[in-house]
Amino acid sequence: MKAPARTTVTAALPYANGPLHIGHIAGAYLPADIYVRSLRSRNKEVLFICGSDEHGAAITLRAIKEGTTPQAIVDKYHALMGKAFEDFGIAFDIYHRTSSELHRKTSQEFFLQLYANGAFTENTEEQYYDTEAKQFLADRYIMGTCPNCGNPDAYGDQCEKCGSALSPRDLIDPRSTLSGSKPVLKPTKHWYLPMERSQEWMQEWINTGMLDGDQQHDPAEWKPQVLGQCNSWLKEGLRPRAMTRDLTWGVPVPLPGAEGKALYVWLDAPIGYISAAKQWAADHGTDWEKWWKADDTRLLHFIGKDNIVFHAIIFPILLKQHGGFILPQNVPANEFLNLEGRKLSTSRNWAVWLHEYIARWPGRQDELRYALATILPEFRDSEFTWKDFQDKNNNELVAIIGNFVQRVFVLCNKYYGGKVPEPAASNAAQGEQDTVLWAELSAIPGKVAEDIDKFRFRDALLSAMNAGRLGNKYLTDTEPWKLEKTDPDRVRTVLFNSLRITAALSVVLEPFLPFTAQKLRTMLGLGELKWADALREGLIVPGAAIGKAEHLFKPITDAEIAVEVERLKANEPMESRSTEQGPSAPPRADAVETKVVAKPNISFDDFAKLDIRIGTIAAAERVPKADKLLKLSIEVGEAAPRTIVSGIAQHFAPEELPGKQVLVLCNLEPRKMRGVESQGMVLMAEDAEGKLVFVQPGREVPPGGEVR
Ligand code: MF3
Ligand code: ZN
Repeated sequence: MKAPARTTVTAALPYANGPLHIGHIAGAYLPADIYVRSLRSRNKEVLFICGSDEHGAAITLRAIKEGTTPQAIVDKYHALMGKAFEDFGIAFDIYHRTSSELHRKTSQEFFLQLYANGAFTENTEEQYYDTEAKQFLADRYIMGTCPNCGNPDAYGDQCEKCGSALSPRDLIDPRSTLSGSKPVLKPTKHWYLPMERSQEWMQEWINTGMLDGDQQHDPAEWKPQVLGQCNSWLKEGLRPRAMTRDLTWGVPVPLPGAEGKALYVWLDAPIGYISAAKQWAADHGTDWEKWWKADDTRLLHFIGKDNIVFHAIIFPILLKQHGGFILPQNVPANEFLNLEGRKLSTSRNWAVWLHEYIARWPGRQDELRYALATILPEFRDSEFTWKDFQDKNNNELVAIIGNFVQRVFVLCNKYYGGKVPEPAASNAAQGEQDTVLWAELSAIPGKVAEDIDKFRFRDALLSAMNAGRLGNKYLTDTEPWKLEKTDPDRVRTVLFNSLRITAALSVVLEPFLPFTAQKLRTMLGLGELKWADALREGLIVPGAAIGKAEHLFKPITDAEIAVEVERLKANEPMESRSTEQGPSAPPRADAVETKVVAKPNISFDDFAKLDIRIGTIAAAERVPKADKLLKLSIEVGEAAPRTIVSGIAQHFAPEELPGKQVLVLCNLEPRKMRGVESQGMVLMAEDAEGKLVFVQPGREVPPGGEVR
């Protein structure tokens, strides 16, 4: 393996059919950005590439639904995503797009080279055709009944109800989403990549790193889950895959007789990385080829786990068949991020949207970058909760970094009029504490860089934060504020050293918290700093002016967090509805048909955990500014009635409720809604019209009676 002279870093091109959420960020963009920033700080040559993936059936469908054109859709989201990335400090060298002319040309040339190399086979197959819309139907354009669960609205590629992967011909009663008509089967020709031809070298390359007698990567550096997914694919045996589709929105297949056919995602999106490099090179009057073709270039793809096979098998086969290109040296894929106990979902709006976060928490990008970096799903799925976001901010950013920097700057301003103090030359002032401090501190930059190089960003951040912990400990141990009168030499040394720690922090935290790093440098009166500057002697100069003490981070209150949780939970789907959202929320389109959701069996023990009691409503009132919520006061056999917030305001007037008997789930975790703590949930049923009714005992029972 050659020592790399430069690194090409790609981050998965996001589809331009919706905004970015924190799952995308934690999956690919934040780790890639941390990695790239750390290379730049170490003066390594790096090119960081991304762009919008602007083709695909989902975009056309969205355009049809919104009564507009695919171009209008992608224009909108390309701008929105580009801005969100930029605002969030994801520092691409270029954020390109696949609807560009340069990309069309690049991917067509790539296709033609493969074609000339005999890399494709041609195959004619019957596919569904819409005779009204006069076009072949992409898998996503066909809906029908799922053969597995009976969901009448399954898509041609997947049933979203039961999650099974489908192909259009599996659907019962297929219908076209374009015209609603019944599609017919019609033969159509496509170009396939016979991947089975690559089975052998692929197996060897992935697992040993050897290709054509050359050691190209060290498989021990690949994540186990990446190797695992690749090998389970290889074990099944590689098979031919269609590289083209019958699509009007996409890069046209550049062959005679291929009208109405476009390059499928495999030969479109990843070529977008190449066209992005070309555009960047053109913009900078430089060469793009060395970034993709030189054997001392290292190519890395940052992606989420749904794209592993695409980047570790399919794209490498395409690159090799084309010839002249290097293959990726690693594919550091992340697993998925969940949100508040559930999978992130765009269609269910179960997400924290990046552009919304930026608008709602202006100037607080680093707070989210930090919280996400501490939970990156590097080896297994992980979970974001607003509570954790608050804890990480308050207990780590505020308590460690903010607190340290604040103390140092307050003292320096107070004692030395905002100037860097001169450390004492005498040995007397160089305490034991200083020796320990430097020994521990000087190991940190190397440790952080080493972990970043291994794609262990969580560990790296922990080490970087240790510089702040050391700083706080140093101040606590030396207590300079007590020595001002008795040992001013010592105080000057301690604060001088503390300013050096601050400078080191601004270096080792920069990949993670670029905005904070910049603030620290400004406070220290320093310009751009590189990794090697972290503990460089002579960086902090006695007598130089420093800035005022600034609060780098603000504590986040429970109320601020409650607002975010409430906003999110307003989108909770029907199946797991709670009193918070209220059963009166409109059911989601995909939940209407199936009224009875069969759930898996549970044990009696599980049932016995439920504390369900008879309750008698004592009082009811509306919750201000919430048209669905009533605040109920319910006797459940305890000293005082319970307060329960229930989403039934559109079904019952508060006056009609007192005296009614209901069933109450008493041990549901208490939850705050609109500032009111709800201490349980009222059980409700729905009648044929969707109107809510109480579930009541057959005759009156004293409140508190156990239901079992
Ligand atoms: N846009 C696709 C996705 O998000 C593909 C991204 S990877 C790329 O899954 F290589 F195509 F860019
Ligand atoms: Zn199904």
